Order: sequence, then structure tokens, then C-alpha cells
Amino acid sequence: MFITFEGIEGCGKTTQTKRLGKRLQDQGIRHLITREPGGSVIGASIRQILLDSRNIDLVPLAELFLYAADRAQHIDETIRPALDQGDWVICDRFIDATVAYQGTARRQDIAFIKLLNKKAINGILPEITFLCDCPVETGLARAMKRNKELAQEDQDRFEQEALDFHRKVRQGYLDLAKEYSNRFVIIDATLTENEMEQEIFKTLEPLLP
Ligand code: TMP
Repeated sequence: MFITFEGIEGCGKTTQTKRLGKRLQDQGIRHLITREPGGSVIGASIRQILLDSRNIDLVPLAELFLYAADRAQHIDETIRPALDQGDWVICDRFIDATVAYQGTARRQDIAFIKLLNKKAINGILPEITFLCDCPVETGLARAMKRNKELAQEDQDRFEQEALDFHRKVRQGYLDLAKEYSNRFVIIDATLTENEMEQEIFKTLEPLLP
């Protein structure tokens, strides 16, 4: 079973990824929690380049190729081996993030992005994608609070983007949820963490072995 989590900054998806991992552990289900960018050894270096706030000169096409490179490596090194041995894989961001961020928000060619995604994933598609959806103001306020708690002075390259950019990302995700309604499940990310966890688990319960 391959499950992905998506959403704007501060939507709570990383917390839900971990909570789901705990639930699966309680059920005795072997699983792997991973993320993009940075879910492989080489991907960790790519993640540093992508999120470094000093890299203001990174051009949109180079950014897109770095996400695709990270994904190709991630699939081969991490995701496919785990799925092959029957483990569940839970991934914090995947192909849809590239369509929403680099496509809808950065206005790069979405058809080209989908083609790149197709090449990178080499036949491995998530069965369920949870879109944790909330207004951008709610998400960004949470992301800033988290940075403060982690004593992180700096915002990353994406958190620094204007409100309008994040609104486009959100819209991009909502459009994808409509287009791929067979695998998308929208979770109301204005709910509490406990409520979100329950909603997510309710969807997955019938699929447990
Ligand atoms: P996160 O670990 O906080 O989700 O940070 C990853 C950042 O990378 C986030 O701002 C979204 C961005 N991103 C893209 O722009 N495109 C992608 O394809 C992926 C996977 C992430």
C-alpha cells in the first residue's frame, strides 16, 4: 500500500504522517515513512539545495529538474524496495506537489511536469493521497509558530513566498483532487490533530489486512 500526504505549508501533514505510522505500528503493519524532497541518501543533498534560502538564483526549470531527480532516486532507492517486500509506504509529499508548486504556482508547463513525473515514478502511483486542506492564512501561521518553537530564525525558500503564491498552490491541489478523485481524499486541516487523525484512519480501516 502506497499512501501520500499533500498540502500547503503548515497544513499538518507531517504530523499526520507520523500519527498514521504510530497507528500502523499498533496494528503490527510493517511500514516506511519517507518524504520528498530528501527521502534517499542522494535526495538529502538535493533537499538542501532546494530549501536553502540563499539559493535565490535557482531558476524554475532547474528547480523542477531537481525535484524530478530527487523523485527518480527516491523511487529506486527507497520506495520500490519497501513496496516489493510488502511494507506500507507513507510519503510526505510526492508527484502532486510538483504539479501544484512548480506547475500551478510557478506557472511551468503542467503537461511537461506530468510527463517528468511519469518518467520518475516508473509505474509506481499512490493508491491514496490525503490532501490536508486549509486556508493559507491558517497554514502559514502554523508554519511560523513551528519555526519559532524550533528556534528556527530563517524561513525556507518556499515559506518566504507571498500569500498569493500559496493560494495558487492550494488551488492547484484542489484542482488535482478533482481530476484524480479516485485516489484523493480531502481532509479538513482546520480540524484538531486528533480529529484529522481519526478521519484519516477511518478511510484506511477497511483496507487494513
Ligand atoms: P516540506 O518538507 O516542508 O514539505 O518542504 C518541502 C518544500 O518543497 C515545500 O515547500 C514544498 C516544496 N516542494 C515543491 O515545490 N515541489 C515538489 O515536488 C515537492 C515534493 C516539494
